Amino acid sequence: MAVMERAGEIIKGGGLVAFPTETVYGLGGDALNPEAAGRIYAAKNRPSDNPLIVHIADMEHLAAIVREVPGAARQLSDAFWPGPLTMILHKNALVPEATSGGLPTVALRMPVDPVALSLIRCSGGYIAAPSANASGRPSPTTADHVWEDMQGRIPLILDGGPSEIGLESTIVDLTEEVPVILRPGFISRDMLEAVLGEVRIDPGILGGGQSEGIRPKAPGMRYRHYAPRAPLYVVEGEKEAVTARIRSLLAEAAREGRRAGVMACDGGASRYGSCGALIADMGEREDDAVIARRLFAALRAFDDAGVDIIYSEAFHTPRLGMAIMNRLLKAAGHQIIQAQP
Ligand code: TXA
Ligand code: MG
Repeated sequence: MAVMERAGEIIKGGGLVAFPTETVYGLGGDALNPEAAGRIYAAKNRPSDNPLIVHIADMEHLAAIVREVPGAARQLSDAFWPGPLTMILHKNALVPEATSGGLPTVALRMPVDPVALSLIRCSGGYIAAPSANASGRPSPTTADHVWEDMQGRIPLILDGGPSEIGLESTIVDLTEEVPVILRPGFISRDMLEAVLGEVRIDPGILGGGQSEGIRPKAPGMRYRHYAPRAPLYVVEGEKEAVTARIRSLLAEAAREGRRAGVMACDGGASRYGSCGALIADMGEREDDAVIARRLFAALRAFDDAGVDIIYSEAFHTPRLGMAIMNRLLKAAGHQIIQAQP
């Protein structure tokens, strides 16, 4: 395929290509070339102490860039690769410090998206790729989102349609005695524990009260992230109370002449539609894969509409709730309103 060869040439030459993955779009450069890492940081406007994930397409490429492949990594790759899981392992000298952010470890993932796999193979086997958003903006889940943030900054964006999952990969650190989740994602703690036994959660990612003052171990989880331009508040509580509280907040915003946005599931349009707000329909609470898939696009839509304030329902669903709420609360800067019944 001519376009893939061209994309591979750009990456082998030290340039950048944005590409689809099943999680979010990535901004790819040659992971073994420190200059490419520098270009990635510059294009995203991202602090260069934040390490990049190395994407591979074939298992033999894993062993080639790490000190050793522990049994847990083999078990997890058998179970979840290719797929939305990133593992942290000890790196070897092939991985430049520019890619690992100066850390002795490296993050590795084998995506399942066929365009991503083909690009990796055409580019020499190792693509370093953060999410292809400008630093601080919501991660891109369509090629249009990438275009908004990267036009004029990179020579090529590969369009593979909307991302299937819509949240970045689960990151699990295998350099500790007990594996630790550094970023929650589609592959849940239960799924990891079914393969490995005990898996811990980095207390720094839970956010809010109990983890105040604890620094997340993944450097990228420390920055304000995913933030829409307007202030965002998450309204928690029992369903009727949340509806009533958001309706009264919307009425207040309308009185003050402020345009509001609402993120809601289970028929938000009928509960909030009369309030004059822009409503992001997050689907049904039962189907949290849809909530995950729509989250970042909803935040971008509020930016595009230029709303002044955003209220979101909380989405503490059993399966993906931890990953969804991790992103939503970061986007909200942990501003939470408790709705009292
Ligand atoms: O789904 C994904 O993982 C997407 C797609 C493009 O594959 N990529 C992605 O990359 O989300 P990025 O750069 O936005 O997030 C990488 C995260 C950051 O929080 C970073 O700090 C952490 O991974 N990370 C990378 N290497 C690490 C390491 N050696 N130790 C701890 N955390 C690491
Ligand atoms: Mg990111």
